Amino acid sequence: MDSSRRGAIWFFFLLPHLYLISSSLSCLPDHEKALLRFKSKLLDNPQVSWRSGFQKWNSSSDCCNLEGVTCRGLHLSSDSPKSVVELRVGALAQGFSVADLSPIFEIRTLIRLDASYCVLHGGIPKKGLSRLSQLEHLDMSGNHLNDSIPLQIYNLTKLKQLDLSDNSLSGRLSSNIGNLRKLEVLNLENNALSGSIPPEIGKLFNLLILSLAYNGLTGAIPSSLSNLTELQKLDLSSNSLSSIIPVTIGAWQNVSELYLQRNSLSGSIPASIGKLRNLKSLHLSENFLTGFVPSSLFELKKLTALYIGNNRLSWNDSVAISPRCFFSELSLQSSGMAGEIPWWLSGQKKLQLLDLRDNELSGSIPPWLAYLGVPTLLFGRNMLTGVLPPSLFSSQLVVIDFSGNELGGELPKNIGNASSLEMLVLSGNSFHGPLPETISNLSLLWMLDLANNFFSGDILPAFKSGPSHLDLSGNHFSGPFPMSMPNANLNSLEFLDLHDNNITGALPLYLAELPSLRIVSLRGNSIAGSIPVPLSKLQHLQFLDLSCNHLTGQIPSELGSLPYLQFTHNNESYYNDFFASDSSEYYNEHLTLNWKGTIIYIRTIKINLYLSLDLSNNQLSGQIPPSLGNLRALKSLNFSFNNLTGEIPDSLGKLKVVESLSLAHNMLSGEIPRSFEELGELTTLDLSSNKLVGNIPAGGQMSTMTNPDSYANNDRLCGFQIAVDCETAAPTEDPLGSGDDWEEDQTWFSWEAMLVGYSFGFVVAVVIVSFTKVPNPWLTFQGSGRSSRALAA
Ligand SMILES: *[C@@H]1O[C@H](CO)[C@@H](O)[C@H](O)[C@H]1NC(C)=O
Ligand SMILES: *[C@@H]1O[C@H](CO)[C@@H](O)[C@H](O)[C@H]1NC(C)=O
Ligand SMILES: *[C@@H]1O[C@H](CO)[C@@H](O)[C@H](O)[C@H]1NC(C)=O
Ligand SMILES: *[C@@H]1O[C@H](CO)[C@@H](O)[C@H](O)[C@H]1NC(C)=O
Ligand SMILES: *[C@@H]1O[C@H](CO)[C@@H](O)[C@H](O)[C@H]1NC(C)=O
Ligand SMILES: *[C@@H]1O[C@H](CO)[C@@H](O)[C@H](O)[C@H]1NC(C)=O
Ligand SMILES: *[C@@H]1O[C@H](CO)[C@@H](O)[C@H](O)[C@H]1NC(C)=O
Ligand SMILES: *[C@@H]1O[C@H](CO)[C@@H](O)[C@H](O)[C@H]1NC(C)=O
Ligand SMILES: *[C@@H]1O[C@H](CO)[C@@H](O)[C@H](O)[C@H]1NC(C)=O
Ligand SMILES: *[C@@H]1O[C@H](CO)[C@@H](O)[C@H](O)[C@H]1NC(C)=O
Ligand SMILES: *[C@@H]1O[C@H](CO)[C@@H](O)[C@H](O)[C@H]1NC(C)=O
Ligand SMILES: *[C@@H]1O[C@H](CO)[C@@H](O)[C@H](O)[C@H]1NC(C)=O
Repeated sequence: MDSSRRGAIWFFFLLPHLYLISSSLSCLPDHEKALLRFKSKLLDNPQVSWRSGFQKWNSSSDCCNLEGVTCRGLHLSSDSPKSVVELRVGALAQGFSVADLSPIFEIRTLIRLDASYCVLHGGIPKKGLSRLSQLEHLDMSGNHLNDSIPLQIYNLTKLKQLDLSDNSLSGRLSSNIGNLRKLEVLNLENNALSGSIPPEIGKLFNLLILSLAYNGLTGAIPSSLSNLTELQKLDLSSNSLSSIIPVTIGAWQNVSELYLQRNSLSGSIPASIGKLRNLKSLHLSENFLTGFVPSSLFELKKLTALYIGNNRLSWNDSVAISPRCFFSELSLQSSGMAGEIPWWLSGQKKLQLLDLRDNELSGSIPPWLAYLGVPTLLFGRNMLTGVLPPSLFSSQLVVIDFSGNELGGELPKNIGNASSLEMLVLSGNSFHGPLPETISNLSLLWMLDLANNFFSGDILPAFKSGPSHLDLSGNHFSGPFPMSMPNANLNSLEFLDLHDNNITGALPLYLAELPSLRIVSLRGNSIAGSIPVPLSKLQHLQFLDLSCNHLTGQIPSELGSLPYLQFTHNNESYYNDFFASDSSEYYNEHLTLNWKGTIIYIRTIKINLYLSLDLSNNQLSGQIPPSLGNLRALKSLNFSFNNLTGEIPDSLGKLKVVESLSLAHNMLSGEIPRSFEELGELTTLDLSSNKLVGNIPAGGQMSTMTNPDSYANNDRLCGFQIAVDCETAAPTEDPLGSGDDWEEDQTWFSWEAMLVGYSFGFVVAVVIVSFTKVPNPWLTFQGSGRSSRALAA
């Protein structure tokens, strides 16, 4: 949840409340007992972490002095005992279950109960809450609450503020919600609520803020909402596309992510929404709303934030739009806009964010756009033509995205004027010429994406304070590798993509001095020389693609000590700082990676799943260093199309999570290591076109590597995978003593018989294995594997 939205909600929570607070007398004995019982419940729960002095607190000190507790005198006379009226549970303790709260519900005078962000789990208590009939403020946001919202909540008719956001609540919203006539703030966002929005919500005439965003609500937006004329903020966004689950399943090589669509709000935006005359902020994006964008939206005089992108909306061209408000945030991404950038925007002088990505806007960029001075300008994936007006690059500009348009010409020389620029994204256009030198003056720039244009030259900007994401791939940059990089400060560079250019020369040593490098792709250039040993010191390197160059020499054995690739990472949080930046909030976009031989698009936030070493298609020679078996986190390794000789090291069997392994088109000799049976996650194997001999290991994961192409074009391989009988395949030098013959035959026989019997099972098993990525025990041909090895020995 972004902070500005939370902020708006909290503002209303913190409206001042006037209570008579006297300090002389202690709280009511009943209330003190309730708190003591609460404490003793928590004492029984080892998971609790205590806050302030609650664990040490006892009846000898006033409960009204506890942090998080507010009392109020019952009578105006100051010597009567006080009752607890406000309780902020999180100030007492964290990490307990809802059941532990039960003593709290005896404090019936509570007006405000704040149990937000205190690691609370379980379902919302039913009976307990219904006792707190005086409650005006209930906040249980940011916990692990599950199950549905109990009906008892709708009986708390004095509630003014109800916040259950950021939990895992499911089920439907009851029509009883209409009972809560005094509600001013209703925030249920980021749960798993389903069903439709009950029309009774239109009875909550006092609502100022309503958010049901990030749920799985379906059905139409009830027209009764238009009765909520006090409403200032309405957020129904993202009731779709909210669960994004990454998939790296070998069988689906080109599917890097699977989008599971939740159900979502449908129907049109009710034109009557134009009656919400106090509305300041309207979020309806990421649903399946259809029909025209109602022109009544633009009649709302107080509206400053409008997010209606990523629906199925369109615009009625015969309706002239002339907003009666000044927007500060206008997000119309993928909203069916066509034609020129609409003229009505030229009057919008207060815009901070303009997002028109994924529309069909054409024509050139109008000069007035520059004069609006919008800090965040997002026009990616439209059909705009012409050049970038130099006047766009003013000091206000923070994020600019014109990627995927048809713009051309050179970049304006004054780009360095945009001294606040953080992201410059112009990939996929037809820009040409050199990069303007003044780019190097942009000290806040962290993302420079100029991929897939026609930029040329042999000079890179000498960044004074370099970006962390630099993508110049698919251009015509040429000349010896260093370009001007050594002069630049690239200490924060994490992502370096120069693939498909015309860079020559050797890999410079200073690459190894860039401490933050994680992802390096230099594929498809003309880089020569050997792989510098110091590269192996890069602490964070997780993805190195040097394929399709002219590298020579040996693979340095030191690469086996690349720190990041040595330890398995099943810990996503480690990576979530990647591309962490305020401006990335709008820009959680995709990276292009060469993954297992296919170009894929992944979300930057999922980058942690991709750990790869690709040295394919060079002229590397010598042996594969056994030390590479230490790269236990590696998921993809490709050394194909080189001149590697010698045997495949046994140690590669230690690459426990490798999913794709290609050593094809080399001159590798000897046998396929038996240790390959241990590669439990392997789904793609290519050993073709080498000089390998002997038995293909048949047990473990190798029993699923049944594509004969994986072994094609070798010297004398045999095994069931290529339907070559090992006994007849290795007739020349059979070292077996005659005494062993019978036994071996016996094993061989049963092994073959199993194959026939399991041929159907195999197909099923391969599918299962590729989906679950666990070795399937009933496919382990232990005996046969051993005997086959003996045969060839
Ligand atoms: C109550 O707490 C105070 C200070 O924390 C301590 O001195 C006192 O002994 C405690 N009394 C009881 C009855 O536990
Ligand atoms: C809710 O969470 C509790 C504790 O975390 C768990 O025991 C219970 O099974 C969950 N209930 C549902 C319906 O998911
Ligand atoms: C809510 O209050 C009504 C009237 O007092 C009562 O009949 C009903 O049982 C209550 N509902 C729940 C769920 O407690
Ligand atoms: C809005 O309120 C009016 C009067 O309170 C009521 O007659 C009408 O039915 C309501 N409209 C909707 C759509 O609920
Ligand atoms: C994946 O690749 C297959 C064949 O290579 C192709 O038919 C399919 O369309 C691709 N799927 C996606 C989502 O790119
Ligand atoms: C578009 O708006 C015009 C003017 O309000 C209206 O006459 C026309 O019916 C609308 N078009 C459609 C398809 O609804
Ligand atoms: C923009 O850059 C140009 C050339 O570099 C310079 O002459 C001009 O003064 C700059 N404008 C602003 C507003 O900084
Ligand atoms: C970069 O900025 C400095 C001072 O702000 C200025 O002197 C210099 O000319 C600028 N360099 C470029 C290439 O614009
Ligand atoms: C690379 O350079 C060669 C010769 O200089 C040229 O023929 C080729 O078109 C260039 N390729 C690219 C992608 O710029
Ligand atoms: C995840 O990684 C971070 C950073 O290395 C570490 O501090 C944290 O303990 C790890 N968490 C788990 C659950 O492994
Ligand atoms: C390995 O590299 C070669 C040459 O670059 C490429 O053709 C092939 O698709 C790659 N295979 C895998 C599985 O990565
Ligand atoms: C591979 O090495 C042999 C000799 O070791 C050499 O003749 C051949 O040209 C090399 N092939 C390539 C593609 O570098």
